[in-house]
Amino acid sequence: MKRVLLIIGGGIAAYKTLELIRALRKRGLAVRCILTRAGKEFVTPLALSSLSGDKVYEDLFSLTDEAEMGHIELSRDADLLVVAPATADLLAKMASGAANDLASTALLATDKPILAAPAMNVRMWLHAATQRNFSRLEGDGVRFVGPGEGEMACGEFGPGRMAEPVEIADAIEAMLGVVTKGKPLTGRRVVVTSGPTLEPIDPVRFLSNRSSGRQGHAIAAAAAAAGAEVVLVSGPVSIPDPAGVRTVHVEAAVEMLAAVEAALPCDIAVFCAAVADWRVEPAWQKIKKGTSAPTLALIENPDILATIGHHSRRPRLVIGFAAETEKMLDHARAKLARKGCDMIVANDVGGEAGVMGGERNTVHLVTANGVEDWPTLDKAEVARRLVERMAALIEGSR
Ligand code: C5P
Repeated sequence: MKRVLLIIGGGIAAYKTLELIRALRKRGLAVRCILTRAGKEFVTPLALSSLSGDKVYEDLFSLTDEAEMGHIELSRDADLLVVAPATADLLAKMASGAANDLASTALLATDKPILAAPAMNVRMWLHAATQRNFSRLEGDGVRFVGPGEGEMACGEFGPGRMAEPVEIADAIEAMLGVVTKGKPLTGRRVVVTSGPTLEPIDPVRFLSNRSSGRQGHAIAAAAAAAGAEVVLVSGPVSIPDPAGVRTVHVEAAVEMLAAVEAALPCDIAVFCAAVADWRVEPAWQKIKKGTSAPTLALIENPDILATIGHHSRRPRLVIGFAAETEKMLDHARAKLARKGCDMIVANDVGGEAGVMGGERNTVHLVTANGVEDWPTLDKAEVARRLVERMAALIEGSR
């Protein structure tokens, strides 16, 4: 994972760095912040550390900071240093080589590339001193994004507005040489259940179903290809683990539930597994064939989807499946509400459809807004389209 050291100067545009941090993390980059004393007047260390998921560094002479990580290490540990907002004062310090606080010291001590996003009043930006510093820094190899023209917080109009967070994030990606375009789930964590569950009756016998795991495995693979960090919780299947995915193998439904809960928190959970509705209390020894057939006392299994759909750590997007043989859409709609999910992917497994174990699938997406019928598609194509839909839903759910 590439690491960005973000140095936040004191200007009103500092609030935009919160959005920038989110954008960078979404693109799979790690962000660590240095906040200048002036920057602290505009954004709080708590907001920055909550979004970056890391400690915020402020004070050059903080002994604990130095014990944990010196300022030299701080700047060298990153792949790129970003100064945003780069105030007139920070640019002046950088241009002259001043090192009188943590931000300027880190900038002087680094051997990594630097990107600056200037933000200041129009007059300050156009001032000969700032323009001189700008040219000197360009000559030193510092790269710039912005400033843009437009109305400014101070009421004036002209160059000096900090570039928008997406522009800065694009410039950062370009400098780091990482391409995440076409990977709409970068930075997202996705949990997928797949396959059947296997409920032991005794050491040699079990209850199970015909699920092959093909659809769930294809979704896990498609989510990984879209840049997500994927945990696949799979019941026993005969197909291989998808590449680029962490696969957790389980057998019984109770184990599947435990594995899913252990994989939380996540952004998206997709419940594709055909979980056995019932289990039995397994016998320790093989049940002997006797004169009369034994009766199996069925115990209801936990509903994994419903548990996670109503969980205190519920993922933002919860998707269930519904394998039905009759009244498919009515049942799917009822399930949507009962199980607390955002979408049910309904498929008809009755008749000659051959969905269970087959290569193709005909699905209907049921949400609170209605039903969308998809044509019969290869399971991998269903997975790709579902992942696209997931990315759009999670983007729009903020
Ligand atoms: O109620 P039904 O079994 O038809 O619901 C299907 C959906 O619920 C699927 O998404 C399936 O993975 C999930 N499910 C579950 N745990 C169960 C039963 C079903 O997660 N015990």
